[in-house]
Amino acid sequence: MSDRKILVTSALPYANGPIHLGHLVEYIQTDIWVRFQKQRGNTCYYICADDTHGTPIMLRADSEGITPEQLIAQVEQDHRADFKDFGVLFDNFHSTHSEENKHLSELIYTRLRDAGHISQRTITQAFDPVKKMFLPDRFIKGDCPKCDAKEQYGDNCEVCGATYSPTELKNAVSVISGEKPIEKESEHYFFNLADFTEQLKDWTTAKGHLQPEVKNKMAEWLENGLQQWDISRDAPYFGFEIPDAPGKYFYVWMDAPVGYMASFKNFCAKKDLDFDQFWALDSDVELYHFIGKDIIYFHALFWPAMLSGAGFRTPSAVFAHGFLTVNGEKMSKSRGTFIKARTYLEHLNPEYLRYYFAAKLTDGIDDLDLNFDDFSQRVNSDLVGKVVNIASRCSGFIKKRFDGKLSATCSETELFQHFVAANTEIAELYENREFGKAMREIMALADKANQYIDEKKPWLVAKEDNKDAELHDICSMGINLFRLLIAYLKPVIPALAENAESFLNIESQAWPEQAQPLLDHAINKFKPLMTRVEADKIAAIVEASKDNLKKIQTPKAKQFEAIADTIEFDDFAKIDLRIAKIIKAEHVEGADKLLQLTVDIGDETRNILAGIKSAYAPEDLEGKLTLVVANLKPRKMRFGLSEGMVLAAGPGGKDLWVLNPDQGAQAGMRVK
Ligand code: MSP
Ligand code: ZN
Repeated sequence: MSDRKILVTSALPYANGPIHLGHLVEYIQTDIWVRFQKQRGNTCYYICADDTHGTPIMLRADSEGITPEQLIAQVEQDHRADFKDFGVLFDNFHSTHSEENKHLSELIYTRLRDAGHISQRTITQAFDPVKKMFLPDRFIKGDCPKCDAKEQYGDNCEVCGATYSPTELKNAVSVISGEKPIEKESEHYFFNLADFTEQLKDWTTAKGHLQPEVKNKMAEWLENGLQQWDISRDAPYFGFEIPDAPGKYFYVWMDAPVGYMASFKNFCAKKDLDFDQFWALDSDVELYHFIGKDIIYFHALFWPAMLSGAGFRTPSAVFAHGFLTVNGEKMSKSRGTFIKARTYLEHLNPEYLRYYFAAKLTDGIDDLDLNFDDFSQRVNSDLVGKVVNIASRCSGFIKKRFDGKLSATCSETELFQHFVAANTEIAELYENREFGKAMREIMALADKANQYIDEKKPWLVAKEDNKDAELHDICSMGINLFRLLIAYLKPVIPALAENAESFLNIESQAWPEQAQPLLDHAINKFKPLMTRVEADKIAAIVEASKDNLKKIQTPKAKQFEAIADTIEFDDFAKIDLRIAKIIKAEHVEGADKLLQLTVDIGDETRNILAGIKSAYAPEDLEGKLTLVVANLKPRKMRFGLSEGMVLAAGPGGKDLWVLNPDQGAQAGMRVK
């Protein structure tokens, strides 16, 4: 048994939305790896947290009428439940909006500053004059300066691929207020990444730190020269204020990776562990970050630089993975393939997905596809058809004929040893994150076990006289092989493994390096361990996922006149609005805009001249209920006296709409 000390993280999910199947590629991949390490007897801690800071979270809380703190508390609950139900078992799950993180972010920042790695300079940025805040590029939309494509973000055009600064966009508007952004100056704080160029060249090229394809990408970036990294944001911002800079906040990506340390610190306090043993410069603990390929830059450049600049150890490796596509395409809300973890859980067994992802994962950064047909077929044929089937084929005879007890002899030592010996190869594949290959090895063993049973034909042996011992041995052998398969699959399908262990009446299995067959051992009654994937459940998930996330409303450029100045209620109460019934409507001789209306407002009738001729014929109006201002001073007009005003909306011409009250209102009622 080994006794490595390992600290593992997954990227911290943003606290502004639900966990979806794309995220789960990462959390499941990491969880499998961690469970494997633990099963091997290593000391391994799996640490995560919610990433809670930044503009999108602030604005979303705003739009929901709650505080950011309330939003992140709610989201944290959902995230925790989703992870738990998918069997993603963190040793600690914390939040970047925590005391520990505030303290460590300030510590790292001040160390960097005191060592001269922080500089300040004034920059010009887009500013929302209504919302009174600086706008991140993603919060500005307009027409592409190159190809004129509409509704493009402030940083790049999704149509022609051009990159530009938000000030170059045509007809730019703030996504938040719909107002045209102005330019405004502000002082920003920068991390001088270039100070670490040599160190980063060493770190990124050292063996084992990065995957080969990632290493090459980093070499390109390093070749092009490292830019200063803007780590400050102006108020209003949901985050931590920078110690020596009132009104300036740490950019979310500054304190997010520190969240790994903070969550671990929080864990240390609970478990009485020594934080420094894991993070000090001379630490011999292994530290691994599992991340998606979209955030490599932060983890392979900024983060090691921040850590070493502040006197902490750097990661042992960063493991990046690819993105999830569904049925060969990017996850899409309209196609119902943007699937929330919770939606999946409402219909299907989470371990189907854990197994499917495992079967598709490699050590590389290629995208992986969730294909629903392939998914059902894989799970049904591998887990149900191959693995669980072995137990169900053998357990019945053990129960009925041998009182639930396995044979006292192992009839096929060689076969059993072959299964045990496979542990080395399978362990190496798990260790190297070649989960797909590991699953293929394990399924090859499952095929062998089934072949063995097919050849021995226990169902025929059972019908013969005096063959009890043989039948007992065959079925016991089958159960013993099943048990080893479960040991190998345990990191991937822990819940099934646990149920299988209770069927086998054994303790939680360690990695079976030293496994001996179960002899003369009583097992429990077999219950189906997994049922087949039902196609209609998948259809139900897709249906339930169609447009299930509220479309983010992007205001268009302003098209209505500005809201008038605020008035007191008393001002409003002065206006006497009444329901009126239009008794008669007629043309007015010589007037091309006016109609003459006779309206009943309850206890009296009025004559009103209304400028709505462009939109209504008199006969359309007669008999209709509408709203009038009843106490408007009568006005003498060229065509007669108007004793009130009919209310209508619209810019004019044909686009004018007279207001109608809801059904049931009666002429004379006051509107208030
Ligand atoms: N908050 C940052 C990470 C900070 S780490 C200090 C973030 N959050 S995220 O919620 O957008 O993503 C969390 C992780 O899930 C990232 O590693 C990301 O790459 C991964 N994935 C998000 N969508 C994914 C897919 N569709 N497919 C695979 N992984 C995906 O980034
Ligand atoms: Zn364009």
